[in-house]
Amino acid sequence: MRALERLEQLYAIGGGLGANRPHGSSAEDEAHELAAGWMREAGLAVEVDAHANLLGRSARSDDVWVGSHLDSVPRGGRYDGALGVVAGIEAVERAGAGSAVAFRGEEVGCIGSRALCAAGLGLPRAFLELHVEQGPVLADAGVPLGVVTSIVGYARGELVFEGRAGHAGTTPMDARDDALVSAAERILEIRDAAWEVEGAVATVGELELEPGASNVIPSRARISVDVRAPEAGGLARLVAGIGFEPAQFTQPASMDAGLRDVLRDVIAPRGLPVLDLPSGAGHDAGILAASGIPSAMLFVRSLNGGVSHSPDELSSDEDVALAVEVLTAALARIAAS
Ligand code: HGY
Ligand code: MN
Ligand code: MN
Repeated sequence: MRALERLEQLYAIGGGLGANRPHGSSAEDEAHELAAGWMREAGLAVEVDAHANLLGRSARSDDVWVGSHLDSVPRGGRYDGALGVVAGIEAVERAGAGSAVAFRGEEVGCIGSRALCAAGLGLPRAFLELHVEQGPVLADAGVPLGVVTSIVGYARGELVFEGRAGHAGTTPMDARDDALVSAAERILEIRDAAWEVEGAVATVGELELEPGASNVIPSRARISVDVRAPEAGGLARLVAGIGFEPAQFTQPASMDAGLRDVLRDVIAPRGLPVLDLPSGAGHDAGILAASGIPSAMLFVRSLNGGVSHSPDELSSDEDVALAVEVLTAALARIAAS
């Protein structure tokens, strides 16, 4: 199946273990060039907007967009983002309607879709995104596809701890100002704060130390903070509880009820159960929805326990083929409405 072959071509870019197409890298650019070629092959009018997002317009209802992102986390999965772009191109070509889109920098805060919405020009009237679930819910329920109800809100930023460098061997324990110990204590407080908010999660994924030698007491520690909650109130409580100034704050976003009905009406006649579920991951669809653009997401079952942001990310070829079919049928209906 062409979509699967294209996923492999994208996966091979950047080399190394997993997908390695970080935002701003030549690998992300190479992926966009590849996708632009596929859009041209499909007969779409290819454009790159002022924010370097890629768009392939068909001749009909080009204000209905379908797509996702091509950047990845380090050692990412084969499907995250890439599946939505490849499937979007397939759907537009098969439906003969709509526009396929690849947004920039989704993994670093959806910067391409955020910039597009902030500029407010040439926005779609509706947006559809196919994405791997990146969790175990569909697999546990034995269901291949899910319809997303809402997308989690998240706050991201960093905390810096200043200490005093010193000799690891000659500085008594009661004379130390160890930046890493301060950071470690706060990391446990951040974890505890997340337990206090229903459905919340908190992650410290980055840690940088200075000067960074085994026999020097750390003088400075920088940690990233990524906190999420399904409800706006809970997210606000979590951020306040942790006491950090987020560099990025994205409110939870509801998916459009009418577009969800379209997805449901396309799935049900196939004799498939329709499973509604929230997304714990952030997505470009959340940014467009928060900007008032009716948006909907179709999830395809993640295998391997739902693992994602890992080379172990996996969805079956059959589920991917079904997802592309459903996405195409939904696009055709929305474009005709
Ligand atoms: O982090 C996220 O939720 C998404 O994968 N960017
Ligand atoms: Mn993604
Ligand atoms: Mn991701």
